[in-house]
Amino acid sequence: MLAPTGFTRIAHPAGELAVARAAARHGIPYALSTLGTRSIEEVGAVDGGRHWFQVYFWRDRGLVREMIERAAACEYEALVLTVDTAVLGRRERDVRRGFALPPTLGPGTLLDGAIHPGWTWAFLRSEPIRFANVAGRSVGDGADPVALSEYVNAQFDPDLSWADVEWIRSVWDGPIVLKGIQTEADAVLAADAGVEAVALSNHGGRQLDGARPPVALVAPVADAVGDRVEIICDGGIRRGSDVVKAVALGARAAMAGRAYLYGLGAAGERGVDHVLDLLASDVRRTMALLGARTCGELDRSLLLVP
Ligand SMILES: Cc1cc2nc3c(=O)[nH]c(=O)nc-3n(C[C@H](O)[C@H](O)[C@H](O)COP(=O)(O)O)c2cc1C
Repeated sequence: MLAPTGFTRIAHPAGELAVARAAARHGIPYALSTLGTRSIEEVGAVDGGRHWFQVYFWRDRGLVREMIERAAACEYEALVLTVDTAVLGRRERDVRRGFALPPTLGPGTLLDGAIHPGWTWAFLRSEPIRFANVAGRSVGDGADPVALSEYVNAQFDPDLSWADVEWIRSVWDGPIVLKGIQTEADAVLAADAGVEAVALSNHGGRQLDGARPPVALVAPVADAVGDRVEIICDGGIRRGSDVVKAVALGARAAMAGRAYLYGLGAAGERGVDHVLDLLASDVRRTMALLGARTCGELDRSLLLVP
């Protein structure tokens, strides 16, 4: 699956639409971020896509509810509630570069722009980057300069609790995924809360960079929850063999973020297609080399787990 990534149009002007189209062609789900730079409706209109919507908990619950209703109206398949962003992690490269929306031009950006003229030309010709799901709202949509950390810390509710998971259930009929689960105990609580899946994730190391790697959590969580809740392994998926390892350890699916962003940044929609082709062929090759004909034949006996 393709993980939610905010402000995807920074990588390429085609942004989330390119990712959604490539995912649809490959028949895999793509989760649009709350902080997407294309809206729920624009991505929902991509034909044949398995669209999922990632929710951050804004302090304004009315806004959360409205976004969930918009996703339902556009027939999104599932909601992904991200639970690891009570406050934004300190992303030191963002701090050093003064990362903000709209992107500000400092000496570093100008130098980068000069050595990537294709990106710069496309960026300058495309419409301004905005948080499309809240365009024109009082909460701010990135049209006025704002640092991401200030924005997140001002708008998102740090008091998210299990009661909010129940609330989500009351306003959304479809499957719910809790993304950002990092312990066996929380996975058990998620199963008790009746969600359909947990995404074991440390946000690609962007929140607590010392958090346990998700792949190391798959087996213990699978042992703790059995088949009460499905497991998605999210973080560090770069090759098909990473997907196979996650599934062999007990995950139902693996989810990639940076892998498709790299393809998108390098070559737009074609780049995302290429990354998905590489992942798919590597999954098949790895399974053939293991002698596994189906995903059901992947199990822990195939791995040496330290
Ligand atoms: C640029 C970028 C933006 C992200 N934005 C979001 C987001 O808006 N919501 C979210 O739940 N996760 C977000 N993530 C985390 C991803 O969903 C995912 O957990 C992470 O990228 C997985 O690690 P990987 O990049 O190694 O595949 C973002 C990750 C990146 C790299």
